[in-house]
Amino acid sequence: MSIEAHGGELINRELKGSEREQELSNASSLQSLTLSAWALSDLELIGIGGFSPLTGFMSQKDYQNVVQNTRLEDGTIWSIPITLSVSTEQAQAYEIGEKIALKGEDGVVYGTLQLEEKYNYDKELEAENVYGTKDEAHAGVKKLYARGDVYLGGPITLLNRPDHSDFSEFYMDPSETRKMFADLGWKTIVGFQTRNPVHRAHEYIQKSALEVVDGLLLNPLVGETKSDDISAEVRMESYQVILKNYYPADRTRLVIYPAAMRYAGPKEAILHAIVRKNYGCTHFIVGRDHAGVGDYYGTYEAQDFISEFEDELGIQIFKFEHAFFCTKCENMGTAKTCPHDKESHVHLSGTKVREMLRNGEKPPKQFSRPEVAEVLIKGMQAK
Ligand code: ADX
Repeated sequence: MSIEAHGGELINRELKGSEREQELSNASSLQSLTLSAWALSDLELIGIGGFSPLTGFMSQKDYQNVVQNTRLEDGTIWSIPITLSVSTEQAQAYEIGEKIALKGEDGVVYGTLQLEEKYNYDKELEAENVYGTKDEAHAGVKKLYARGDVYLGGPITLLNRPDHSDFSEFYMDPSETRKMFADLGWKTIVGFQTRNPVHRAHEYIQKSALEVVDGLLLNPLVGETKSDDISAEVRMESYQVILKNYYPADRTRLVIYPAAMRYAGPKEAILHAIVRKNYGCTHFIVGRDHAGVGDYYGTYEAQDFISEFEDELGIQIFKFEHAFFCTKCENMGTAKTCPHDKESHVHLSGTKVREMLRNGEKPPKQFSRPEVAEVLIKGMQAK
């Protein structure tokens, strides 16, 4: 028996076969809306069930509840609005009750929206409550402020999948990962979210978790990230290299998470946990400053926040303290396991590491596996 999807039912909004053909041919006579890459990835995740129990872009009631109470209208825990924005002028062109063809920037029809609601929203309130700041310099808030002023709500269908041909080997639906775990005989699975290459600290917390569960789902986010994050292409190569060299093949699987990164810290940690539950994970890792950016969140704020919901979330959270290599222990550890002072801990900032890689310099092997550093250097220099 696999873990229940969030809200009780794994959603599938994808049309196939003749139903799909019919909807696609109808779509040619519908008004259309061109989605940003971010909205397209949301459409996909709703469609394949990653965002279960959502069946479409949020209604005003769900939206308001999420922003104010971290719950959908029916009380189900949900932490980040999943919304479709348009400008006021665009919104005027659509009538409630009509179906809208949802296109990508490439002109392909990816799905449809049954328009049930158009509503205005308070950007500053959303910024404050979801991101914890109104500061435009915050990567997620900046995106929010740039959006149109009206949200469109209603159920969607998914008619075409966005192109993941670069990573097709590592693309799976939640229903497929669930089946894979069952076939592997894994009863307990830890999900790991990352938008970075896997460094020794990541490896340490993943393997600490792997000591007590059956399998690890390395589930890197490959949707939109900020421009100074390392690209998904380079990261995917680095994940394959580290798995091949340092992980037990029969206890790890690499699958992409095609969503956009919000950088919403505590609130995003909850979304990340819910999605991994939908993919069939029983456990999820939240380490230091999960989904954080800059100094907006405290080191353990995401852990403290998710703890408030833990009894009800339906997926167990593994919380790890800041991990590092200690030169005295000659081991990875945290303040819980290492008695030595900071001088013995290998610490490098993200900025410093990126600078080293750009200069073709490998970070110390206590920080990053040399095979990973090699891939990153090659990737950075190609860029
Ligand atoms: S995230 O934005 O996707 O959360 P990142 O890829 O850096 O960022 O982190 C992936 C996961 O590893 C998160 O749960 C994060 O809290 C955790 N993590 C990152 N670095 C460390 C560290 N040094 N010690 C403990 N946990 C860490």
